Amino acid sequence: MTQVGKDQPVAVIGAGTMGRGIVQVFAQSGFEVRVFDANAAAVDAGIEFIRKQFDRSVQKERMTADDAAQALERIRKIPAIPDCKGARICVEAATERPDVKKDLFRALDAVLDADAIRASNTSSISITELAAVTKNPNRFIGMHFFNPVPVMKLVEIVMGLETDEATFTAVRDLAAALGKTPVRVNDHPGFVSNRVLMPMINEAILTLQDGVAEPEAIDEVMKLGMAHPMGPLRLADLIGLDVCADIMMVLYRNLGDPKYFPAPLLQKMVAGGRLGNKTKRGFYSYE
Ligand code: CAA
Repeated sequence: MTQVGKDQPVAVIGAGTMGRGIVQVFAQSGFEVRVFDANAAAVDAGIEFIRKQFDRSVQKERMTADDAAQALERIRKIPAIPDCKGARICVEAATERPDVKKDLFRALDAVLDADAIRASNTSSISITELAAVTKNPNRFIGMHFFNPVPVMKLVEIVMGLETDEATFTAVRDLAAALGKTPVRVNDHPGFVSNRVLMPMINEAILTLQDGVAEPEAIDEVMKLGMAHPMGPLRLADLIGLDVCADIMMVLYRNLGDPKYFPAPLLQKMVAGGRLGNKTKRGFYSYE
């Protein structure tokens, strides 16, 4: 059986910004979802965040109070990886470090059914490389969501070297069942999304660094002139400046072109701990 039905649980690893958003969309779309994070407090904080999101949806009459309560009941905090046993798909949204993700997938391999789907929400690590640590790389795929997950329509589906068509079809249909629009791409540094987005953000930072304009002016040009919903500097703050710098380094190292080198100003801000919204300071202040 290849499809991911609502009669079978799904598992999400990681309850940070992306993980909790993924848990929320699964639960509100009718899936039983198990969630694990090495930091158990992050799961509690994530579930509390989701509860508030549902309360807001009830207030705005997008959801009934009953639907919200049922969706919340579908979320189960699990204390350890072996509790993912029986899940048809496990979506990993843990720390963006290859060693962390590989250890998680090795541990998952020991408990998931051979034909269960292993998916990573990675924004820049090679799907082929992660798949290679598992026993069934044909059942491994990238399922790349966008922040804020409940709002953004796209799921970039990333095909690793060995990913088979049945896995693609199941994940494509699953993304549609979550109310998202799936787009298929191949595994290559940055996939499509970050190959295009990150150099634009980096260029905006270089523009600031060169004193061409203030942050507000750069963002206003892109919002009003190019109809972007938010300017590139504010978006960089939302994504996290450390994440932006890491993704640029992935592009730089793997594509070997100096045009991808992270802007010195970006590197300086990361070194100084100004990481954007999450530290309340980036190109803007969020105090
Ligand atoms: N979590 C959940 N919902 C959120 C949210 C969040 N963090 N931020 C905003 N929303 C919701 C709001 O609640 C609001 O919904 P309501 O109808 O309940 O009010 C809705 O989104 C619109 O929000 P706002 O009215 O406050 O503001 P907005 O209209 O300016 O939209 C935005 C905010 C959706 C973030 C919009 O500015 C936008 O689309 N920005 C671009 C985001 C983007 O490009 N994301 C991709 C980043 S790249 C990535 O994630 C992947 C990667 O690999 C790096």
